[in-house]
Amino acid sequence: VSQRTLVLLKPDAVKRGLAGEIISRVERKAGWRLAAVELRTFDRATLEQHYAEHVGRPFYEPLLDFMTSGPSIALIVEGENVVPGIRALAGATDPLQAGPGTIRGDFATITRENLIHASDSEASAEREIKIFFPSHA
Ligand code: CMP
Repeated sequence: VSQRTLVLLKPDAVKRGLAGEIISRVERKAGWRLAAVELRTFDRATLEQHYAEHVGRPFYEPLLDFMTSGPSIALIVEGENVVPGIRALAGATDPLQAGPGTIRGDFATITRENLIHASDSEASAEREIKIFFPSHA
């Protein structure tokens, strides 16, 4: 099924010069294409909407500090089964649980600085696209 999803390359990805590598892995998947790309340092208000479900968790404040620490890249990716597909490419949230060949498994070591976000469902994708790309909603 053709879907679209919201992907964030987090500040660690941009800072470490891994944006090209990660976008390249996404682009090489057959039938997927970039529909929107923007480099931006997110403000707190935007991230409070995005991470609303995590308010009150112990990792919430450090997560917002990290996510506002420098530029990220937001993308909309479209294509066949792209919602579960990019989650699979990213690997588990905890990089130590992420398999070799996944983005987090290959390049990350700690859970907060895990390089990439990808929507976990089609409903989340539509909610998150409204936050980061209101003109594409
Ligand atoms: P993501 O799944 O994109 O969205 C929630 C983010 O919170 C997650 O990536 C991590 O960056 C961060 N996160 C989730 N759980 C933890 C945790 N236990 N410790 C630190 N950061 C976390």
